[in-house]
Amino acid sequence: MTSPYGLEGRVAIVTGASRGIGLAVAEAFVAAGARVCVTARDPDAVRWAAEDLGGVGLAGSVADPGHLRELTELALREFGRIDVVVNNAATNEPYGPLMDADPDRWREAFNVNVEAPLRLVQYAWRAWLREHGGSVVNVCTEGAGHVGPNVGAYGTSKAALLHLTQQLSGELAPKVRVNSVSPGLVRTEMARFVWEQAEDELAAGLPLGRIGEPEDIARAVVWLASGAAEWITGADLLVDGGTRVRAAHTTTAYAVHERLRAHRAP
Ligand SMILES: NC(=O)c1ccc[n+]([C@@H]2O[C@H](COP(=O)([O-])OP(=O)(O)OC[C@H]3O[C@@H](n4cnc5c(N)ncnc54)[C@H](OP(=O)(O)O)[C@@H]3O)[C@@H](O)[C@H]2O)c1
Repeated sequence: MTSPYGLEGRVAIVTGASRGIGLAVAEAFVAAGARVCVTARDPDAVRWAAEDLGGVGLAGSVADPGHLRELTELALREFGRIDVVVNNAATNEPYGPLMDADPDRWREAFNVNVEAPLRLVQYAWRAWLREHGGSVVNVCTEGAGHVGPNVGAYGTSKAALLHLTQQLSGELAPKVRVNSVSPGLVRTEMARFVWEQAEDELAAGLPLGRIGEPEDIARAVVWLASGAAEWITGADLLVDGGTRVRAAHTTTAYAVHERLRAHRAP
């Protein structure tokens, strides 16, 4: 039986796919019958992920436009098409009050979190999507909808990514759909400092009673990228266990804020 996703034989580029949400996204695409082209900075981790996924990988930083161009070329050379682009790689640095933000590190955050997604879509658009169509999913964050201590650079850049998603959805229609998924707190390395020592407290405040797993986000990304969502563009799908529900704000959001406030960046 074919899947309702219509992803068999399709090709997805996934950034930040050596662990966490990106790896789960790449695995979910493969499970849906797609082939994947993955990237992250650590060469060993990229090689292992690509091998496990039966796909191809290229190590490098998404902050480097040359790397993104090579990634696009690799997908086309190996698979002959690019149907989906998932901009998942991100940094939550520089951590701390914005008044102390180092300009170079602020620019790096915007390079990785905002400019890289635009560049990768530009390359994929020119090489394939403009003519053949496809879809883009950007991984944003539930936190882009409100402010919190010490995460000003991250939150501001992710809010920009949300806007970029909507802008591109208008510019690239009708050939290409562009959507985002905004995760709540997920059990990954990036958020370890938030959940590791307070998981029970955080989970207790969430309407759905637990923090997120990478697979929770991956299923949403694959669904949005697939034919099952063919009449959806410019949307942001919140996958947060109910974090935004008012009841959660009184407990979980407060606990997250306290963890953020207490954390000292290395
Ligand atoms: N975890 C959460 O609670 C949460 C909540 C909301 C949103 N998100 C979003 O979810 C996405 C994935 O985060 P995650 O939690 O899965 O993080 P993670 O476990 O730390 O994984 C991040 C991945 O991105 C790669 N990466 C980081 N910087 C990169 C760069 N400059 N160039 C290329 N690859 C890079 C990492 O590998 P290398 O280090 O080897 O490069 C790794 O594969 C991010 O967009 C994040 O903002 C996460």
